[in-house]
Amino acid sequence: MTIVDTVNATEEAIALDDRYVAHNYSPLPVVAASAEGVWITDVEGRRYLDCLAAYSAVNFGHRNPEIIAVAHAQLDKLTLVSRAFHSDRLGPFCEALAELCGKDMVLPMNSGAEAVESGIKVARKWGTDVKDVPAGQGNIVVARNNFHGRTTTIISFSDDETARRGFGPYTPGFRAVPFGDADALAAAVDENTVAVLLEPIQGEAGIIVPPPDFLPRVRALCTERNVLMIADEIQSGLARTGRTFACDHFGVVPDMYLLGKALGGGVVPLSAVVANRDILGVLHPGEHGSTFGGNPLAAAIGTTVVAMLQRGEFQSRSAELGEQLHRRLHALFGYGVVAVRGMGLWAGVDIDPALGTGKQISRKLAERGVLVKDTHGSTLRFAPPLVITAEEIDWAIDQFADVLADAGPHLTGSPAR
Ligand SMILES: Cc1ncc(COP(=O)(O)O)c(C=O)c1O
Repeated sequence: MTIVDTVNATEEAIALDDRYVAHNYSPLPVVAASAEGVWITDVEGRRYLDCLAAYSAVNFGHRNPEIIAVAHAQLDKLTLVSRAFHSDRLGPFCEALAELCGKDMVLPMNSGAEAVESGIKVARKWGTDVKDVPAGQGNIVVARNNFHGRTTTIISFSDDETARRGFGPYTPGFRAVPFGDADALAAAVDENTVAVLLEPIQGEAGIIVPPPDFLPRVRALCTERNVLMIADEIQSGLARTGRTFACDHFGVVPDMYLLGKALGGGVVPLSAVVANRDILGVLHPGEHGSTFGGNPLAAAIGTTVVAMLQRGEFQSRSAELGEQLHRRLHALFGYGVVAVRGMGLWAGVDIDPALGTGKQISRKLAERGVLVKDTHGSTLRFAPPLVITAEEIDWAIDQFADVLADAGPHLTGSPAR
Protein backbone atom coordinates (compact mmCIF):
# COMPACT_ATOMS: atom_id res chain seq x y z
CA MET A 1 0.00 0.00 0.00
CA THR A 2 1.46 3.40 -0.94
CA ILE A 3 1.47 6.31 1.48
CA VAL A 4 -1.12 8.10 -0.68
CA ASP A 5 -3.43 5.07 -0.48
CA THR A 6 -3.13 4.83 3.28
CA VAL A 7 -3.81 8.53 3.85
CA ASN A 8 -6.88 8.13 1.68
CA ALA A 9 -8.11 5.21 3.75
CA THR A 10 -8.63 7.45 6.79
CA GLU A 11 -9.96 10.40 4.84
CA GLU A 12 -12.29 8.28 2.77
CA ALA A 13 -13.76 6.53 5.79
CA ILE A 14 -14.36 9.84 7.55
CA ALA A 15 -15.88 11.39 4.41
CA LEU A 16 -18.28 8.46 4.09
CA ASP A 17 -19.33 8.83 7.73
CA ASP A 18 -19.79 12.57 7.28
CA ARG A 19 -22.08 11.99 4.36
CA TYR A 20 -24.18 9.08 5.57
CA VAL A 21 -23.97 8.94 9.36
CA ALA A 22 -26.14 11.33 11.40
CA HIS A 23 -23.90 13.94 13.01
CA ASN A 24 -24.84 13.19 16.60
CA TYR A 25 -21.19 12.57 17.58
CA SER A 26 -17.94 14.39 16.96
CA PRO A 27 -15.33 11.58 16.92
CA LEU A 28 -11.57 11.94 16.90
CA PRO A 29 -10.12 11.38 13.39
CA VAL A 30 -9.14 7.77 14.09
CA VAL A 31 -10.70 4.98 12.00
CA ALA A 32 -10.51 1.68 13.87
CA ALA A 33 -10.16 -1.48 11.82
CA SER A 34 -9.22 -4.11 14.39
CA ALA A 35 -8.39 -4.45 18.07
CA GLU A 36 -7.03 -6.84 20.62
CA GLY A 37 -6.70 -6.41 24.37
CA VAL A 38 -5.96 -2.74 24.98
CA TRP A 39 -4.73 -1.97 21.47
CA ILE A 40 -6.76 -0.63 18.54
CA THR A 41 -5.30 -0.66 15.01
CA ASP A 42 -6.57 1.85 12.47
CA VAL A 43 -7.12 1.48 8.72
CA GLU A 44 -3.57 2.63 8.10
CA GLY A 45 -2.00 0.12 10.47
CA ARG A 46 -1.28 2.64 13.26
CA ARG A 47 -1.73 1.29 16.78
CA TYR A 48 -3.40 3.14 19.64
CA LEU A 49 -3.60 2.36 23.33
CA ASP A 50 -7.30 2.50 24.15
CA CYS A 51 -7.76 4.50 27.35
CA LEU A 52 -11.53 4.85 26.95
CA ALA A 53 -12.67 1.22 26.63
CA ALA A 54 -15.92 2.32 24.96
CA TYR A 55 -17.01 4.09 28.14
CA SER A 56 -16.31 0.89 30.16
CA ALA A 57 -18.08 -1.47 27.74
CA VAL A 58 -14.70 -3.05 26.96
CA ASN A 59 -13.61 -3.57 30.59
CA PHE A 60 -12.33 -7.06 29.77
CA GLY A 61 -10.31 -5.96 26.75
CA HIS A 62 -11.08 -5.99 23.06
CA ARG A 63 -12.02 -9.45 21.84
CA ASN A 64 -11.32 -11.06 25.17
CA PRO A 65 -10.57 -14.69 24.20
CA GLU A 66 -12.83 -16.23 26.85
CA ILE A 67 -15.79 -14.10 25.75
CA ILE A 68 -15.13 -14.51 22.02
CA ALA A 69 -14.96 -18.31 22.36
CA VAL A 70 -18.39 -18.38 24.02
CA ALA A 71 -19.80 -15.97 21.42
CA HIS A 72 -18.54 -18.13 18.55
CA ALA A 73 -19.96 -21.29 20.10
CA GLN A 74 -23.34 -19.64 20.70
CA LEU A 75 -23.43 -18.18 17.16
CA ASP A 76 -23.24 -21.74 15.90
CA LYS A 77 -26.19 -22.86 18.03
CA LEU A 78 -28.90 -20.26 18.63
CA THR A 79 -28.97 -16.46 18.47
CA LEU A 80 -32.53 -15.19 18.85
CA VAL A 81 -36.00 -16.50 19.61
CA SER A 82 -37.51 -13.39 21.27
CA ARG A 83 -39.15 -13.82 24.65
CA ALA A 84 -42.13 -15.50 22.96
CA PHE A 85 -40.27 -18.74 23.74
CA HIS A 86 -37.78 -19.77 26.40
CA SER A 87 -34.14 -20.34 25.57
CA ASP A 88 -31.69 -22.55 27.43
CA ARG A 89 -29.34 -19.56 27.95
CA LEU A 90 -31.52 -16.96 29.66
CA GLY A 91 -32.22 -18.73 32.97
CA PRO A 92 -28.55 -19.52 33.69
CA PHE A 93 -27.57 -15.93 32.89
CA CYS A 94 -30.21 -14.38 35.14
CA GLU A 95 -29.42 -16.84 37.94
CA ALA A 96 -25.70 -15.98 37.76
CA LEU A 97 -26.27 -12.23 37.57
CA ALA A 98 -28.83 -12.23 40.40
CA GLU A 99 -26.31 -14.11 42.54
CA LEU A 100 -23.49 -11.67 41.69
CA CYS A 101 -25.75 -8.81 42.80
CA GLY A 102 -27.17 -10.61 45.84
CA LYS A 103 -30.69 -10.12 44.47
CA ASP A 104 -33.59 -12.37 43.43
CA MET A 105 -34.39 -11.47 39.83
CA VAL A 106 -33.17 -9.91 36.60
CA LEU A 107 -34.97 -7.98 33.87
CA PRO A 108 -32.74 -8.27 30.77
CA MET A 109 -32.64 -5.43 28.25
CA ASN A 110 -30.13 -4.16 25.66
CA SER A 111 -28.81 -0.61 25.97
CA GLY A 112 -28.01 1.24 29.16
CA ALA A 113 -30.71 3.82 28.52
CA GLU A 114 -33.23 0.98 28.20
CA ALA A 115 -32.19 -0.36 31.59
CA VAL A 116 -32.68 3.11 33.10
CA GLU A 117 -36.09 3.51 31.42
CA SER A 118 -37.04 0.05 32.66
CA GLY A 119 -35.88 0.87 36.19
CA ILE A 120 -38.00 4.03 36.15
CA LYS A 121 -41.06 2.10 34.96
CA VAL A 122 -40.57 -0.58 37.63
CA ALA A 123 -40.15 2.07 40.35
CA ARG A 124 -43.30 3.89 39.27
CA LYS A 125 -45.27 0.63 39.13
CA TRP A 126 -43.90 -0.37 42.54
CA GLY A 127 -45.00 3.03 43.83
CA THR A 128 -48.55 2.48 42.64
CA ASP A 129 -48.91 -1.24 43.39
CA VAL A 130 -46.89 -1.57 46.61
CA LYS A 131 -46.40 1.87 48.17
CA ASP A 132 -49.95 3.04 47.33
CA VAL A 133 -48.86 6.27 45.70
CA PRO A 134 -51.84 7.60 43.68
CA ALA A 135 -51.46 6.59 40.01
CA GLY A 136 -49.51 9.17 38.02
CA GLN A 137 -48.32 11.00 41.16
CA GLY A 138 -45.03 9.20 41.87
CA ASN A 139 -41.86 11.26 41.76
CA ILE A 140 -38.21 10.25 41.47
CA VAL A 141 -35.32 12.21 42.98
CA VAL A 142 -32.22 12.44 40.76
CA ALA A 143 -28.88 14.25 40.96
CA ARG A 144 -27.84 17.35 39.08
CA ASN A 145 -25.24 16.78 36.36
CA ASN A 146 -26.45 13.22 35.99
CA PHE A 147 -25.98 11.17 32.88
CA HIS A 148 -28.31 8.22 32.43
CA GLY A 149 -28.71 8.06 28.64
CA ARG A 150 -30.44 9.78 25.76
CA THR A 151 -34.12 8.83 25.59
CA THR A 152 -36.83 11.48 25.90
CA THR A 153 -37.69 10.61 29.51
CA ILE A 154 -34.04 10.47 30.58
CA ILE A 155 -33.10 13.80 29.01
CA SER A 156 -36.16 15.27 30.74
CA PHE A 157 -34.22 15.14 34.03
CA SER A 158 -30.83 16.04 32.59
CA ASP A 159 -29.47 19.55 33.05
CA ASP A 160 -27.23 19.35 30.01
CA GLU A 161 -28.81 21.90 27.68
CA THR A 162 -27.22 20.35 24.58
CA ALA A 163 -28.88 17.05 25.41
CA ARG A 164 -32.27 18.72 26.06
CA ARG A 165 -32.74 21.71 23.80
CA GLY A 166 -35.39 21.16 21.15
CA PHE A 167 -36.39 17.71 22.38
CA GLY A 168 -39.36 18.70 24.55
CA PRO A 169 -42.03 18.25 25.73
CA TYR A 170 -40.33 16.63 28.67
CA THR A 171 -41.53 13.83 30.94
CA PRO A 172 -42.60 15.16 34.37
CA GLY A 173 -42.07 13.48 37.74
CA PHE A 174 -38.38 14.14 38.50
CA ARG A 175 -36.68 16.38 41.06
CA ALA A 176 -32.98 17.17 40.82
CA VAL A 177 -30.76 17.92 43.83
CA PRO A 178 -27.02 18.60 43.98
CA PHE A 179 -24.97 15.37 43.80
CA GLY A 180 -23.40 14.62 47.17
CA ASP A 181 -25.84 16.75 49.19
CA ALA A 182 -27.75 14.30 51.41
CA ASP A 183 -29.67 17.11 53.18
CA ALA A 184 -31.00 18.49 49.89
CA LEU A 185 -31.93 14.98 48.86
CA ALA A 186 -33.79 14.36 52.12
CA ALA A 187 -35.67 17.63 51.67
CA ALA A 188 -36.75 16.62 48.15
CA VAL A 189 -38.30 13.33 49.27
CA ASP A 190 -42.03 13.45 50.04
CA GLU A 191 -44.79 10.87 50.52
CA ASN A 192 -45.09 10.36 46.75
CA THR A 193 -41.39 9.72 46.16
CA VAL A 194 -40.96 6.23 44.74
CA ALA A 195 -37.22 6.23 44.07
CA VAL A 196 -33.88 7.96 44.30
CA LEU A 197 -31.92 7.36 41.09
CA LEU A 198 -28.16 8.01 41.22
CA GLU A 199 -24.86 7.14 39.62
CA PRO A 200 -22.77 6.22 42.70
CA ILE A 201 -19.86 7.96 40.99
CA GLN A 202 -20.90 10.38 38.25
CA GLY A 203 -19.11 9.31 35.08
CA GLU A 204 -19.95 11.71 32.28
CA ALA A 205 -19.92 14.63 34.73
CA GLY A 206 -16.15 14.04 35.09
CA ILE A 207 -15.78 11.01 37.41
CA ILE A 208 -17.19 12.79 40.46
CA VAL A 209 -16.81 10.78 43.68
CA PRO A 210 -19.33 11.81 46.38
CA PRO A 211 -18.39 12.51 50.02
CA PRO A 212 -17.92 9.20 51.90
CA ASP A 213 -21.11 9.56 53.95
CA PHE A 214 -23.37 10.49 51.03
CA LEU A 215 -24.42 7.08 49.72
CA PRO A 216 -24.78 5.56 53.22
CA ARG A 217 -27.05 8.48 54.14
CA VAL A 218 -29.08 8.02 50.95
CA ARG A 219 -29.40 4.33 51.78
CA ALA A 220 -30.62 5.06 55.30
CA LEU A 221 -33.06 7.70 54.08
CA CYS A 222 -34.51 5.39 51.41
CA THR A 223 -35.05 2.63 53.96
CA GLU A 224 -36.62 5.01 56.45
CA ARG A 225 -38.96 6.68 53.92
CA ASN A 226 -39.87 3.51 51.97
CA VAL A 227 -38.24 4.76 48.77
CA LEU A 228 -36.31 2.58 46.30
CA MET A 229 -32.61 3.33 46.05
CA ILE A 230 -31.62 2.79 42.41
CA ALA A 231 -27.90 2.69 41.58
CA ASP A 232 -27.05 3.28 37.94
CA GLU A 233 -23.83 1.24 37.78
CA ILE A 234 -23.88 1.08 33.99
CA GLN A 235 -20.50 2.82 33.73
CA SER A 236 -19.16 2.51 37.28
CA GLY A 237 -20.00 -1.16 37.84
CA LEU A 238 -18.54 -4.54 36.90
CA ALA A 239 -14.99 -4.04 38.23
CA ARG A 240 -14.28 -0.58 36.79
CA THR A 241 -13.56 0.99 40.21
CA GLY A 242 -11.70 -1.94 41.77
CA ARG A 243 -14.81 -3.51 43.30
CA THR A 244 -17.67 -5.31 41.56
CA PHE A 245 -19.88 -2.25 42.12
CA ALA A 246 -18.92 1.31 42.99
CA CYS A 247 -21.52 1.09 45.79
CA ASP A 248 -19.30 -1.57 47.44
CA HIS A 249 -16.70 1.09 48.28
CA PHE A 250 -19.31 2.84 50.41
CA GLY A 251 -20.72 -0.30 52.06
CA VAL A 252 -24.06 0.33 50.40
CA VAL A 253 -26.48 -2.12 48.75
CA PRO A 254 -29.13 -0.41 46.63
CA ASP A 255 -32.60 -1.84 46.10
CA MET A 256 -32.03 -1.92 42.36
CA TYR A 257 -28.90 -2.14 40.22
CA LEU A 258 -28.95 -0.86 36.65
CA LEU A 259 -26.21 -2.56 34.64
CA GLY A 260 -25.07 -2.39 31.03
CA LYS A 261 -21.96 -1.71 28.97
CA ALA A 262 -19.38 -4.31 30.20
CA LEU A 263 -22.16 -6.83 30.83
CA GLY A 264 -22.15 -7.50 27.07
CA GLY A 265 -18.40 -8.24 27.14
CA GLY A 266 -17.69 -5.56 24.53
CA VAL A 267 -19.46 -7.79 21.98
CA VAL A 268 -23.22 -7.25 22.21
CA PRO A 269 -25.51 -4.69 23.84
CA LEU A 270 -26.72 -6.25 27.09
CA SER A 271 -28.19 -4.41 30.05
CA ALA A 272 -30.21 -5.40 33.07
CA VAL A 273 -32.33 -4.27 35.98
CA VAL A 274 -31.53 -6.40 39.03
CA ALA A 275 -33.67 -6.34 42.17
CA ASN A 276 -35.58 -8.48 44.63
CA ARG A 277 -38.86 -10.22 43.87
CA ASP A 278 -40.97 -7.71 45.84
CA ILE A 279 -39.80 -5.05 43.37
CA LEU A 280 -39.36 -6.75 39.97
CA GLY A 281 -42.42 -8.87 40.70
CA VAL A 282 -44.62 -5.85 39.93
CA LEU A 283 -44.14 -6.60 36.21
CA HIS A 284 -46.67 -8.91 34.57
CA PRO A 285 -46.87 -10.27 31.03
CA GLY A 286 -47.38 -7.54 28.46
CA GLU A 287 -46.37 -4.67 30.75
CA HIS A 288 -42.78 -4.39 29.54
CA GLY A 289 -40.48 -6.06 27.03
CA SER A 290 -37.98 -5.96 24.22
CA THR A 291 -37.55 -8.23 21.19
CA PHE A 292 -33.81 -8.61 21.69
CA GLY A 293 -33.78 -8.37 25.52
CA GLY A 294 -32.16 -11.47 26.99
CA ASN A 295 -31.47 -13.07 23.61
CA PRO A 296 -29.46 -16.32 23.75
CA LEU A 297 -26.27 -14.82 22.27
CA ALA A 298 -26.23 -11.94 24.77
CA ALA A 299 -27.23 -14.27 27.61
CA ALA A 300 -24.37 -16.69 26.83
CA ILE A 301 -21.89 -13.82 26.76
CA GLY A 302 -23.36 -12.27 29.92
CA THR A 303 -23.06 -15.58 31.78
CA THR A 304 -19.36 -15.70 30.94
CA VAL A 305 -18.88 -12.08 31.98
CA VAL A 306 -20.50 -12.81 35.35
CA ALA A 307 -18.30 -15.91 35.80
CA MET A 308 -15.22 -13.78 35.07
CA LEU A 309 -16.36 -11.24 37.65
CA GLN A 310 -16.98 -13.97 40.23
CA ARG A 311 -13.26 -14.82 40.03
CA GLY A 312 -12.39 -11.32 41.25
CA GLU A 313 -9.26 -10.89 39.16
CA PHE A 314 -10.54 -7.88 37.20
CA GLN A 315 -11.57 -6.10 40.38
CA SER A 316 -8.06 -6.72 41.82
CA ARG A 317 -6.32 -5.55 38.66
CA SER A 318 -8.36 -2.36 38.63
CA ALA A 319 -7.61 -1.68 42.30
CA GLU A 320 -3.87 -2.36 42.03
CA LEU A 321 -3.19 -0.75 38.66
CA GLY A 322 -5.57 2.08 39.53
CA GLU A 323 -3.18 3.10 42.30
CA GLN A 324 -0.41 3.40 39.74
CA LEU A 325 -2.61 5.35 37.32
CA HIS A 326 -3.66 7.81 40.02
CA ARG A 327 -0.11 8.14 41.38
CA ARG A 328 1.25 8.97 37.93
CA LEU A 329 -1.56 11.45 37.25
CA HIS A 330 -1.10 13.16 40.62
CA ALA A 331 2.57 13.64 39.78
CA LEU A 332 1.41 15.89 36.91
CA PHE A 333 -0.06 18.48 39.28
CA GLY A 334 1.69 21.73 38.43
CA TYR A 335 2.53 20.47 34.95
CA GLY A 336 -0.86 21.15 33.42
CA VAL A 337 -3.06 18.94 35.60
CA VAL A 338 -5.20 20.78 38.15
CA ALA A 339 -7.39 17.97 39.52
CA VAL A 340 -7.59 14.18 39.46
CA ARG A 341 -10.62 12.21 40.65
CA GLY A 342 -11.81 8.64 40.54
CA MET A 343 -11.27 5.13 41.79
CA GLY A 344 -9.45 2.14 40.34
CA LEU A 345 -8.69 2.33 36.63
CA TRP A 346 -11.08 5.24 36.24
CA ALA A 347 -9.78 8.79 36.41
CA GLY A 348 -11.23 12.18 35.59
CA VAL A 349 -8.45 14.69 34.98
CA ASP A 350 -8.96 18.46 34.84
CA ILE A 351 -6.40 20.24 32.71
CA ASP A 352 -5.40 23.86 33.10
CA PRO A 353 -7.78 25.50 30.56
CA ALA A 354 -4.86 27.67 29.39
CA LEU A 355 -3.40 24.53 27.80
CA GLY A 356 -6.46 23.82 25.69
CA THR A 357 -9.80 22.10 25.78
CA GLY A 358 -10.16 18.43 26.62
CA LYS A 359 -10.92 17.82 22.97
CA GLN A 360 -7.71 19.52 21.81
CA ILE A 361 -5.60 17.54 24.28
CA SER A 362 -7.38 14.31 23.22
CA ARG A 363 -6.44 14.98 19.60
CA LYS A 364 -2.82 15.52 20.52
CA LEU A 365 -2.81 12.34 22.58
CA ALA A 366 -4.31 10.42 19.65
CA GLU A 367 -1.45 11.67 17.46
CA ARG A 368 0.87 10.05 20.02
CA GLY A 369 -1.09 6.81 20.03
CA VAL A 370 -3.25 7.17 23.14
CA LEU A 371 -7.04 7.33 22.89
CA VAL A 372 -8.94 9.15 25.62
CA LYS A 373 -12.20 11.09 25.69
CA ASP A 374 -12.92 14.55 26.96
CA THR A 375 -16.04 15.04 29.05
CA HIS A 376 -16.76 18.71 29.68
CA GLY A 377 -14.52 21.69 28.98
CA SER A 378 -11.00 20.77 30.01
CA THR A 379 -11.72 17.42 31.64
CA LEU A 380 -10.35 14.16 30.29
CA ARG A 381 -11.24 10.65 31.35
CA PHE A 382 -8.83 7.73 31.53
CA ALA A 383 -10.68 4.39 31.61
CA PRO A 384 -8.54 1.76 29.93
CA PRO A 385 -9.59 -1.88 29.58
CA LEU A 386 -8.79 -3.64 32.87
CA VAL A 387 -6.33 -5.94 31.10
CA ILE A 388 -3.89 -3.04 30.68
CA THR A 389 -0.39 -3.67 32.11
CA ALA A 390 1.71 -1.50 34.42
CA GLU A 391 4.12 -0.76 31.54
CA GLU A 392 1.28 0.32 29.28
CA ILE A 393 -0.05 2.68 31.95
CA ASP A 394 3.41 4.21 32.30
CA TRP A 395 3.71 4.62 28.55
CA ALA A 396 0.26 6.26 28.26
CA ILE A 397 0.98 8.72 31.08
CA ASP A 398 4.42 9.49 29.58
CA GLN A 399 2.62 10.47 26.36
CA PHE A 400 0.18 12.58 28.37
CA ALA A 401 3.03 14.33 30.20
CA ASP A 402 4.68 15.09 26.84
CA VAL A 403 1.46 16.48 25.38
CA LEU A 404 1.04 18.74 28.42
CA ALA A 405 4.68 19.85 28.17
CA ASP A 406 4.18 20.74 24.47
CA ALA A 407 0.95 22.60 25.23
CA GLY A 408 2.39 24.49 28.20
CA PRO A 409 6.09 25.18 27.64
CA HIS A 410 5.89 27.84 30.38
CA LEU A 411 5.48 24.98 32.90
CA THR A 412 9.16 24.22 33.28
CA GLY A 413 10.82 21.16 34.75
CA SER A 414 9.74 17.60 34.26
CA PRO A 415 7.18 15.67 36.25
CA ALA A 416 8.14 12.63 38.30
CA ARG A 417 8.05 9.44 36.23
C1 LIG B 1 -24.25 5.96 34.05
C2 LIG B 1 -24.81 5.72 32.69
N1 LIG B 1 -26.08 5.33 32.55
C3 LIG B 1 -26.63 5.08 31.36
C4 LIG B 1 -25.90 5.22 30.20
C5 LIG B 1 -26.54 4.96 28.87
O1 LIG B 1 -26.06 3.80 28.30
P1 LIG B 1 -26.27 3.52 26.73
O2 LIG B 1 -25.39 4.48 25.99
O3 LIG B 1 -25.86 2.08 26.53
O4 LIG B 1 -27.72 3.75 26.45
C6 LIG B 1 -24.57 5.62 30.28
C7 LIG B 1 -23.75 5.80 29.07
O5 LIG B 1 -22.69 6.38 29.07
C8 LIG B 1 -24.00 5.88 31.56
O6 LIG B 1 -22.73 6.28 31.71
